[in-house]
Amino acid sequence: MLIKVEREEFLQIRDLIHEKAGLYFDERKRYFVEKRVAKRIQASASESFRNYYRTLKYGHNNEELLHLLELLTTNETYFYRHIPQLESFAEEALPLILEEKRQQNNYQLNIWSAACSSGEEPYTLAIFLRETIPDFERWKIDLLATDLDRNILAKARKAIYDKRSIKDVPPGVLKKYFRSLDDGRYQLTSPITSMVRFQRLNLIDRSGMRQHRGKDVIFCRNVLIYFDDHYRKQVVHSLYNSLNKNGFIFLGHSESVGRISAAFQLVKFKKSLTYQK
Ligand SMILES: C[S@@+](CC[C@H](N)C(=O)[O-])C[C@H]1O[C@@H](n2cnc3c(N)ncnc32)[C@H](O)[C@@H]1O
Repeated sequence: MLIKVEREEFLQIRDLIHEKAGLYFDERKRYFVEKRVAKRIQASASESFRNYYRTLKYGHNNEELLHLLELLTTNETYFYRHIPQLESFAEEALPLILEEKRQQNNYQLNIWSAACSSGEEPYTLAIFLRETIPDFERWKIDLLATDLDRNILAKARKAIYDKRSIKDVPPGVLKKYFRSLDDGRYQLTSPITSMVRFQRLNLIDRSGMRQHRGKDVIFCRNVLIYFDDHYRKQVVHSLYNSLNKNGFIFLGHSESVGRISAAFQLVKFKKSLTYQK
């Protein structure tokens, strides 16, 4: 049975998703949203839109909402995404942070990949850290990776990737840290996987965000674009509070905090722009 979602119903769900996850879908996305809602109405045996909406709004632990969000989020990512920015991180931001810490005899480094999707971003950061910190063994590194989507986090923990994900990985790195599997895919090995801890976190959950403090660098790339200005501001504010003084935040290529927060300093590195607290 094909369930049809009326316009009013689309608007109700759209507003609920916005309230709970910050994601905003305008009318142009109506078909995309409706198709997924119809799918979940069937899968959850809700029978009618009204029942489904009630479950979504009042259901136990937001379980059904999470299922729906998992269908609606875009998980596009790959290793070595936007290399100039990664090089700015490794060649310019990191040495500044490490030097300041060495002077304080503090060898704890805290990095956070917020909205990490299937893990390519935090694992890439782990590779850069291992490959570029000269006294790597001396450092205690906490590399936290969070995302809203439980399925994608399960995939991240498995660390098995297809050719498309690893297309930009330099051959030497591929050889050193990946194992090729019989089915043509690649599995990342433990020197890298053991550096990353994954956790579920909704970026608009203020109390959840408050648990994460003392970060030296935050990567929050290609997720703010899905939020409206209200939640973008809120998330950037939370991330600001999570950073140490002088800490850096790296955003996606087309994202900036300029319009939404004056608290950060714009830093012009040789290969990319970033923001510092
Ligand atoms: C396009 S991916 C970006 C992955 C990676 N940062 C990159 O740039 O390659 C966006 C990710 O944001 C996550 N996401 C969307 N809304 C979120 C929210 N409210 N809280 C946390 N993560 C969210 C999605 O599940 C998805 O995995």
